[in-house]
Amino acid sequence: MRKPLMAGNWKMHFNHLEAIHLVQKLAFTFTDEDYTSLDIAVLPPFTSIRSVETLIHGDGLKLQFGSQDISAFDSGAFTGEVSGVMLSKLGCHYAIVGHSERRAYHHETNEVVNKKAKAALSHGITPIVCVGEPLEIRESGSHVQFTLNQVEKSLEGLSSEEVAKIVLAYEPVWAIGTGKVATAEDAEEVASAIRKWISNKYSTKIGEQTRILYGGSVKASNIAGIMAGANVDGALIGGASLDPDEFVAICRFRLH
Ligand code: PGA
Repeated sequence: MRKPLMAGNWKMHFNHLEAIHLVQKLAFTFTDEDYTSLDIAVLPPFTSIRSVETLIHGDGLKLQFGSQDISAFDSGAFTGEVSGVMLSKLGCHYAIVGHSERRAYHHETNEVVNKKAKAALSHGITPIVCVGEPLEIRESGSHVQFTLNQVEKSLEGLSSEEVAKIVLAYEPVWAIGTGKVATAEDAEEVASAIRKWISNKYSTKIGEQTRILYGGSVKASNIAGIMAGANVDGALIGGASLDPDEFVAICRFRLH
């Protein structure tokens, strides 16, 4: 009953013309059958969202789109920030919040991530809340506890209905952009622990509704194994989402 989501996190790649080109290629390839079995989204840099939106809405494409970040505030003296008011006006379905690169390079704490998740929800945007442990935590064996703590703090104060609407992405930091993919068992271990935590804290029903993605070096060659995990509902795909053939092949994981 949880529809899988494949979301391409383009990070800081492509200008708006290149973005249009990539979306056109995806639009040409994906069929209604693809969109029936899963939600497919692209998450371009802010400068490309308007171009992507024009194409998607103009051509009535079923491709979804969103941003890679969102301000915790609606408006004001926050130079460089982009608010949920602006993103929802553009029709964004999703906003990534708390990506490990933002936690690391922009010092985003769980408290900031929590505020951003609330800002997204207040404008009808689904936050894709990223959590996941660095290498030293994985090596110490406390990765499940570490990640659940991030989940708890990032979701603080959200209602059950809101938690059912959000997307969580488990992205072990050591697997992002490194080519070191977590095993399918690693992904399932944490995804199932997160679902259990949500079920205990909110209800079994909410636990069953919340989508949990895996992210970190996902490719066409490893996605089928990852998706075999009962609690993994899709993927947040970085590098491999920049190549349309690879991204399409990931989305068609059932055919592998
Ligand atoms: P990657 O990035 O697929 O390039 O490892 C994933 C992410 O950071 O969302």
